[in-house]
Amino acid sequence: AAAEKGGHEYFMLKEIEEQPAAVANTLRGHFVDHRIVLDEQRLSDQDLRDVDKVFVVACGTAYHSGLLAKYAIEHWTRLPVEVELASEFRYRDPVLDRCTLVVAISQSGETADTLEAIRHAKDQKARVLAICNTNGAQIPRESDAVIYTHAGPEIGVAATKTFTAQIAANYLVGLALAQARGTKYPDEVAREFRELAAMPEAVARTLESLETARSLGGELAGSKAVLFLGRHVGYPVALEGALKLKELAYMHAEAFAAGELKHGPIALIEEGLPVIVVMPSPKGRAVLHAKLLSNIQEIRARGARTVVIAEEGDETVWPFAQHLFEVPAVPTLLQPLVSTIPLQVIAAEIARARGYDVDRPRNLAKSVTVE
Ligand code: G6P
Repeated sequence: AAAEKGGHEYFMLKEIEEQPAAVANTLRGHFVDHRIVLDEQRLSDQDLRDVDKVFVVACGTAYHSGLLAKYAIEHWTRLPVEVELASEFRYRDPVLDRCTLVVAISQSGETADTLEAIRHAKDQKARVLAICNTNGAQIPRESDAVIYTHAGPEIGVAATKTFTAQIAANYLVGLALAQARGTKYPDEVAREFRELAAMPEAVARTLESLETARSLGGELAGSKAVLFLGRHVGYPVALEGALKLKELAYMHAEAFAAGELKHGPIALIEEGLPVIVVMPSPKGRAVLHAKLLSNIQEIRARGARTVVIAEEGDETVWPFAQHLFEVPAVPTLLQPLVSTIPLQVIAAEIARARGYDVDRPRNLAKSVTVE
């Protein structure tokens, strides 16, 4: 069994380390003759050109990857994108027609809420594109096009490598739409793809510098709650970090968009409360970086215990970070692929320090096939 887990105590820790390969394998074969190609495509370029609105539907971790899809797709294509929990989507009578593209993201491809969401979308004549990690599962079977995430089987109930693979796949969808619609020049699409293709190496480097996560796990294990703050693409990353901690360590964990701190959450800050902050790049997003830096100062002044995920060499955070995790400098939209990694490891280490089975958290199922 230890061999199956690649020498790790848990599959999840092995799967965290498989993320460079998960991202690389997901991108492989999708850039051919200078063009982005999808997997099973029963949608023509004309269908993609006709799209005037995108909905992303998903649950759990896949939903968090969908929140990131919005940043990339809107930026690259100028199409409006709405991201919705699959379980809410069909019950509120969303506005859909044949020019709507519904992107359904699901690791298992069998999640009942997501499946029912796409059935509803198809009834309304919308086009459906699935992003799925399981070949031939129900959701891709019922969709008009598919991109498979090639993360390999994921055993740990808490999703890790399928999340980073989903981010890569979502971005491929954005580039495919931009290419078909001509909102980006072919050389721009090629450049974005190259940057994406360089990410497995950045993820691998991130994995090398996480030694301090283990001791931090022990230190935070007794906390009654942990808060997460992020902005822009760092916000979905914070949401995913909080979800991992709930799932694995059974702790109250909540993520906030950092700009909301002053509108309420700051009242929660008290001596010793751990707050994990996902910093934007000081160069890529200087304005947001300055704002988050002042958030860290505010919470430090109120006694919070700060854990900061920041870009390598970002000295400005040093005075306010009691614990620092450095991630490689990468383009802003791609930052979630590296900044998520320390949050996965921190959650696993806290769970381990609390004595829980990180592969099989209580009350959770890997795939939920009831609505
Ligand atoms: C369950 C799992 C989560 C997963 C969610 C969506 O709740 O425990 O880890 O994110 O379902 O699953 P899917 O297979 O659709 O991605």
